[in-house]
Amino acid sequence: MDKKLIFSGIQPTGTFTLGNYIGAVRNWGPLQDEYNCIYCVVDLHAITVKQEPAKLRKNTLDAYALLMACGIDTEKSILFIQSHVKTHAELNWVLGCSTQFGELSRMTQFKDKSKRHADDVNSGLFTYPVLMAADILAYNADLVPVGVDQKQHLELARNIAQRFNQRYGELFTVPEPYIAEIGAKVMSLQDPTKKMSKSDDNPNACILILDDKDTVIRKFKRAVTDSEAEVCYREGKDGINNLMTIYSSVTGKSFDEITSEFAGKGYGDFKLAVGETVADHLAPIRSEFDRLIQDKAYLKKCYTEGAEKAQRYSQRIVSKAYHKVGFVDKA
Ligand code: TRP
Repeated sequence: MDKKLIFSGIQPTGTFTLGNYIGAVRNWGPLQDEYNCIYCVVDLHAITVKQEPAKLRKNTLDAYALLMACGIDTEKSILFIQSHVKTHAELNWVLGCSTQFGELSRMTQFKDKSKRHADDVNSGLFTYPVLMAADILAYNADLVPVGVDQKQHLELARNIAQRFNQRYGELFTVPEPYIAEIGAKVMSLQDPTKKMSKSDDNPNACILILDDKDTVIRKFKRAVTDSEAEVCYREGKDGINNLMTIYSSVTGKSFDEITSEFAGKGYGDFKLAVGETVADHLAPIRSEFDRLIQDKAYLKKCYTEGAEKAQRYSQRIVSKAYHKVGFVDKA
């Protein structure tokens, strides 16, 4: 049987957080053997909020190189930059013409973002989920790895696909969410009831995957815990639970194993161990990233080939969509 097709996109926000890494990107590499994978740096989506052009360009290339450094193999998978492949914007228009104002108004991320960027509630921010649907449907992807914050958008993409199929005849695969077996949610080191986020005001709250060893260790040493002294996973111990989750996902050890490893030791020892383990885990990613980002010619070759493959793949499907809605065939 043919392998299923996975599609996912990631915003070019500069370097990823440990949360993006453990929760998402890290799982993308291993999926490449079991599935056909297409991954995309979504720079079109990025401009729905204000971006400094030079910074967006740098962040997009950084994100591309970082995905490679995290194990995405451009020989096995298609890895490309969204704005290089014109079918996304083309299909976006067609799908937008059957997506309802009311549906888009219900998207919680739009409500949040329009509050946060009240001076720039542009129409791209509103139709963001349509472009995301176009990303996915242009490839007839079967599975989409997404975090909880994107589930509503994926649900909408499914509705858009079904509606198109009903109105114009079968074309699009209705995509399913891919829930990783591993891939825990990583919380802020300073307020473990909140998700780890790059936009946190406190820089100690968030580990960036390009942080150097000393920085990683220092941030873990300052992590907020509780007033007990037992390393165990229990309700109410949000800080320790978060550190255990991180340590477990990097070492593969179970919570029980971690508890015995640190029995009789203090939180200081535990935090140091987590910091060192994470730093050692990230070190090869950082050095691979440094190597790739300096080799601009190689990067360019990879993203150019990626875009060509993505263009070819998606064009077949988007041309069919154009035909189905009644556009005159181009030759
Ligand atoms: N909206 C996603 C996010 O912010 C990124 C994204 C864009 C995406 N297009 C996609 C994710 C298609 C999965 C599939 O995380």
